[in-house]
Amino acid sequence: MKRDDFEFNDRNNGPDRPDSMKPTRPFDPTPVITIDGPTASGKGTVAAIVAATLGFHLLDSGALYRLAALASIRYEVAKDDAPGLAKLIEALHITFREGCAQLDGVDVSGEIRQEEVGNRASAIAVYPEVRQALVARQRAFRKRPGLVADGRDMGTVIFPDATLKVFLTASVEARAARRHKQLMQKGFSANMDDLLRDLRARDDRDMNRSAAPLRPAADAKTLDTSGLSIDQTVEQIIGWYSAIRV
Ligand code: CDP
Repeated sequence: MKRDDFEFNDRNNGPDRPDSMKPTRPFDPTPVITIDGPTASGKGTVAAIVAATLGFHLLDSGALYRLAALASIRYEVAKDDAPGLAKLIEALHITFREGCAQLDGVDVSGEIRQEEVGNRASAIAVYPEVRQALVARQRAFRKRPGLVADGRDMGTVIFPDATLKVFLTASVEARAARRHKQLMQKGFSANMDDLLRDLRARDDRDMNRSAAPLRPAADAKTLDTSGLSIDQTVEQIIGWYSAIRV
């Protein structure tokens, strides 16, 4: 740092600082709860309930990766063309309204949940250019009274100063069973063996990519949800949060 910088800061922080610059109350950043974990670990459902319980905003970062993946299929940008994908993402018109994801003004909430789109999302998420193009869009969700953000790198990269960081895990079998049930309920066909294979491939890609690999932040609380219900998981997270905010 230059000597001039020191002098500037020194003067403005000293007793001679003008009244308009004196702190009136300590800085209180908008609270963020990050919920990261592997595919089908229950993050999405749990994050939505935690957000609703606390009256917080919700960021489903996976939906952003899925929207980018769907757009790349629609606009025919190759899944390995990292600079092309980044350019596409920067130009995308994305909105979330009442739980619906819109791409260029059209509701695509159903399409982005298809396995083909999920697999492409995981494939394009390995590129640093793609991840960087989504950073500002994700941080823009941090608004008062607070945010619950679910994804893979919410606690490690996007919100490193989060109030509470949770990392959910579950066995691959438990996750495949959940994903199977979820797809059936939505009217999509699904085969258990295919799901297990896809989950393992996606875990492998998420954990071993060099850009923002899936891993718990050093200060995250890890919770294995294999034997827990959604309600028990939510209760634990709200309990941790309440203990911090009292
Ligand atoms: O439903 P699932 O948990 O498989 O995925 P998702 O949360 O909807 O996200 C789709 C894909 O985007 C994941 O498989 C990840 O590879 C990627 N992703 C990511 O890399 N980082 C995030 N913060 C969120 C999703």
